[in-house]
Amino acid sequence: MTPIDPAGPEPISVVQHPTSHPTVDEAAAIIRRGGAVAFPTETVYGLGADALNADAVRRVFLLKGRPGVNPLIVHVSGAGMAARVVAPGGWSDDAARLARAMWPGPLSMVLPRADAVPPEVTAGGPTVAVRCPDHPVALALLFHLGTPLVGPSANLSGSVSPTTAAHVRDSFPPDDVFVLDGGPCRGGIESTVLDLASPTPRVLRPGLIGASEIAEALGRDVLPPPARPPARPGDGPGAPLPSPGLTPRHYAPRTPARLFDSGELDLVLRGAGRGAVVLSHDDADVPPPHALIRLPADADLYARELYAALRDADGRGAGVILIQRPPRGGDRAEVWAAIADRLARATA
Ligand code: TXA
Ligand code: MG
Repeated sequence: MTPIDPAGPEPISVVQHPTSHPTVDEAAAIIRRGGAVAFPTETVYGLGADALNADAVRRVFLLKGRPGVNPLIVHVSGAGMAARVVAPGGWSDDAARLARAMWPGPLSMVLPRADAVPPEVTAGGPTVAVRCPDHPVALALLFHLGTPLVGPSANLSGSVSPTTAAHVRDSFPPDDVFVLDGGPCRGGIESTVLDLASPTPRVLRPGLIGASEIAEALGRDVLPPPARPPARPGDGPGAPLPSPGLTPRHYAPRTPARLFDSGELDLVLRGAGRGAVVLSHDDADVPPPHALIRLPADADLYARELYAALRDADGRGAGVILIQRPPRGGDRAEVWAAIADRLARATA
């Protein structure tokens, strides 16, 4: 086999049948040896390793600088593979129904874990989050390996998730992480995390699949995401966090970032000192020395571009990133709500 350059710029064409792609073979070999491979999904890039190999999983935590209390999502090729990581009897009717309706897709289901899953994966907890990614390269890797893969977002813990292979390469040395380049992710924000291990299903992390869509597929109520602690004092009540990874500050650029309402822009720019980068989804008037990054007004396109825009803004050496508060309501209200969730954490 020809040697593969881990930093190789050539994206894998999704038109080609990727199961026969030499780069996927190489990635699978690295994972079998206990290594880490970044892989594209329809949401963001994941940092993959063999979910049943405790040493490989520990390395993923180390590479990301992730606190051991934050469990990982296990990626599977479908319901059959999911059954290997879920406790016997834990694959409920609800889980089966949602897998049929939404997989492959951006839905992670939290279910009782099987004994075969190393405690590192679940942060010692009794449940495991599973999802089947809707991306041909991720699926090719999973089918090729025949083994489940942990896949936290392929970024350093707490920072902005990667939506391109270049974003991943910015965070990890090529010797540590082999990157499968499947081009830009079309979803752009992380999967919906749904707790199915409690009596009433509950969204723990909002995403592109909304609670109403899940409720419709299940034919019963689904609880909305829990209230998060206020981003700013006075913003509203806080509540205990039921998901260990739902920290108030997350998805955050290094540059201080804050939200603004459209009517406030002049005022906040006046206080922005040595230059602000403004992220806006409408025609904001942004005079020099400040800079504007225009985001789409369409919720799905906004989600797709958000993380690249945050990374772009972060790289401009500005004093502050100002982000226009996203719209509420409309027929994509749940997508806007998921975006608002990420922005609240990015600016906390
Ligand atoms: O779209 C995604 O979900 C991406 C792609 C790569 O699949 N992955 C991802 O993983 O976002 P990560 O590790 O960055 O976020 C996983 C989230 C965290 O908030 C974590 O706390 C939560 O899922 N989670 C994982 N296992 C859980 C469990 N057993 N119970 C509750 N929450 C869990
Ligand atoms: Mg993450």
